[in-house]
Amino acid sequence: MEKAASECLVVDSVQMKIGNIADADLDRLHALSMAVGWPHRAEDWQFLRHVGKGVVALDDIGRILGSVMWFPHADNFATIGMMITSPRLQANGTGRWLMRHALTELKGCNLGLSATRAAHRLYLSLGFEAEKPVYQCQGEVIEPDMQLAMPDGAGLREVHPDDVSLLGELDRKAFGAYRLPVLAESLAHSKGFGLFRNGKLKAFALCRPFGRGHVIGPVVANHDQDAIAVTRPFVAEHAGRFLRLDTRQKEGSFAEFLSRCGMPVFDTVTTMSLGQRWIPEDSAVLEDRSRIYALASQTLG
Ligand SMILES: CC(C)(COP(=O)(O)OP(=O)(O)OC[C@H]1O[C@@H](n2cnc3c(N)ncnc32)[C@H](O)[C@@H]1OP(=O)(O)O)[C@@H](O)C(=O)NCCC(=O)NCCS
Repeated sequence: MEKAASECLVVDSVQMKIGNIADADLDRLHALSMAVGWPHRAEDWQFLRHVGKGVVALDDIGRILGSVMWFPHADNFATIGMMITSPRLQANGTGRWLMRHALTELKGCNLGLSATRAAHRLYLSLGFEAEKPVYQCQGEVIEPDMQLAMPDGAGLREVHPDDVSLLGELDRKAFGAYRLPVLAESLAHSKGFGLFRNGKLKAFALCRPFGRGHVIGPVVANHDQDAIAVTRPFVAEHAGRFLRLDTRQKEGSFAEFLSRCGMPVFDTVTTMSLGQRWIPEDSAVLEDRSRIYALASQTLG
């Protein structure tokens, strides 16, 4: 069992204490993520603070030297993210110290996260197990072929904040938890399309400003063709501009569509879990079951 983490840590003669991320200065959080080359804007941090909790490592003059956040999606399931330590302090135990704080807060919860290469070993040593790669697909997109027929019997319409429970139900089957706060916050910042058959929502995609452009996610659908149908309007809208989408689809027509539209794989992270397995094995996913084609973000799953 993890030992409770101490409130203070000294690294390289810098004394750090734990602070609540809700009280942290937004510009300083932004500076921390920029220092490790992450694209988040101050607004992206604020979005995450609205739906999650977390702690920061503060030095004695209030500078932010590290962060970790967690997002409770259900009573017994949360994702962890925004785990960053200042480059000048790395490999000295700050990351492990911050994770101990998160794990103490999340005792008894099944946990999921997206691990970068730098953090993989740390999470393994804390008992997390690797499940599946996540492909970070991005680039300046090109106009997709809009002549492609809509999938059989399907119609598209824009979705709005008052569709949140409709989206939540479909997303729950794919994600495994009814994450209304995340979807409501996403809808408040996103444009969205839903694919309907006989008046029933069968797939949806949201797209919001993020980092250096826009990100598409979440995308939930039962089939590649439906996933493409809800994603394609955003690619068309952003032709010539930067778009990002994080997916666990390695092959198949959805993955091919992304690469054809100018969003090749730029980087890979690993879905890891602690407690119950999070992502069902491929062989356990029923052909006609809704699945997550694009993550809301690496942090939110
Ligand atoms: C990942 C990160 C938070 C780790 O923080 P840290 O303060 O260096 O962590 P610690 O010093 O507690 O190290 C924890 C373990 O990771 C290892 N580690 C640290 N940096 C590493 C790196 N760049 N590559 C491989 N392993 C690394 C350490 O050696 C240590 O392992 P050990 O205890 O077996 O020796 C930090 O490197 C970072 O901010 N990276 C950039 C952002 C990022 O990738 N965040 C992770 C998101 S999932």
